[in-house]
Amino acid sequence: MPDSPTPPAWPMPRTCPYSPPDQYAELRQGPPVKVRVGGGEAWLVTRHDHVRAVLTDDRFSSDDQLPGFPLRVRVPPEPRAMSLFRMDGPEHSRLRRMAQTEFTARRTRALRPAVDALVARLLDGIAAGPRPVDIVQEYALALPALLIARLFGVPDEDQGEFTARSQVILTPDGDPQEVYAAFTAMTAYLDRLATERERDPRDDLLSRLATQYVATGELTHEDLVAMVRLFLVAGHETTANQIALSVLSLLRAPDQLAELKERPELYPRAVEESLRYWSIAQDNQVRVAVGDVELDGAAIAKGDGVILALPGANHDERVFTDPGRFDIHRNAGRHVAFGYGAHLCPGAPLARMEIAVALRELFARFPSLRLADDGADVPFRNQHTVVYGLDALYVTW
Ligand code: HEM
Repeated sequence: MPDSPTPPAWPMPRTCPYSPPDQYAELRQGPPVKVRVGGGEAWLVTRHDHVRAVLTDDRFSSDDQLPGFPLRVRVPPEPRAMSLFRMDGPEHSRLRRMAQTEFTARRTRALRPAVDALVARLLDGIAAGPRPVDIVQEYALALPALLIARLFGVPDEDQGEFTARSQVILTPDGDPQEVYAAFTAMTAYLDRLATERERDPRDDLLSRLATQYVATGELTHEDLVAMVRLFLVAGHETTANQIALSVLSLLRAPDQLAELKERPELYPRAVEESLRYWSIAQDNQVRVAVGDVELDGAAIAKGDGVILALPGANHDERVFTDPGRFDIHRNAGRHVAFGYGAHLCPGAPLARMEIAVALRELFARFPSLRLADDGADVPFRNQHTVVYGLDALYVTW
């Protein structure tokens, strides 16, 4: 598509909450196009091969301090506030290597008993409570918040405040001042906790990073705090919304759900398909060009912002046949819901495990689970939030 004189506005609206914006299908037929975003312009990349090309090309930077970096939300604006998420090159690799030691397959396996116990506790609470129940509040948001608190070694008595604050930080369309205040309070809390663990280490993520890297001078105290805050911001709302939307997909596909109940070993496949189908990290994967790049005819100039539309790429019919169909039997393995390349989500193994356990146990405990009111009015989140999802999902049994 030629560069139009008045680029379309971005984000683009969805006509159906179950599908990415319609315009993406049209845009995938050509090279990336310019869009208007936040008072400026940026390139929008919607094709699977183009998205992967950008994400593996070091002429595109994640540094949000560079001019042209396309950000709609700037909370908080300080350099390094988002830790490795908004860095490049050797400094990114260095911090990422440290972060990854906490998300290995071995560590993920070691967390399994904690996930099982938290899931069982939440399901007990749901079973004892009123029906219908909002599975978003009582289950999907609660599980990752409790798990992250456990992972960090947040003492039991602080967990209520910790999870409440993390919710404020992640409130879609939250009052920026309130969000910033919660961000600052959370930073102060993590700062105190990190200081305690540096002094008196225990068996938790903060203590391990403190002893392995802060004590040796490889990581500053401030960078440790920023890193764990990133884990919280990146790992809570994403996992929560993915759990809720996966429940919705399965309740809307009774045949596939029946098969999963018969063959629970298929849950990991269902999780992959749900990740592809929903592509919840819908608009926060952005870059800025640090050199001139020609991409399939699009002349991307140094300093131009680039937006990677993951929902577009994951619904690319060149890669996924009939992409609008939710099908747990498809091979969704090439999806880019966790990103691609150097910034590929390090929390993916943990998220996959958490979501699969959450789904399997929910449907095992409540075999007759169904949408309240036949799912007439499922309240999707504002379609332009950074992470797509649901405000609530009422179910009964
Ligand atoms: C369904 C759940 C999740 C989804 C869909 C998701 C998605 C993503 C995506 C798309 C990126 C790449 C961003 C980019 O390239 O700009 C990313 C990065 C990241 N994610 Fe996740 N994520 C999820 C869960 C988690 C969890 C559970 C954690 C940790 C507790 C986590 C921690 C991170 C971190 C630290 C990064 C930055 C990595 C880097 O910049 O090198 N995520 N995630």
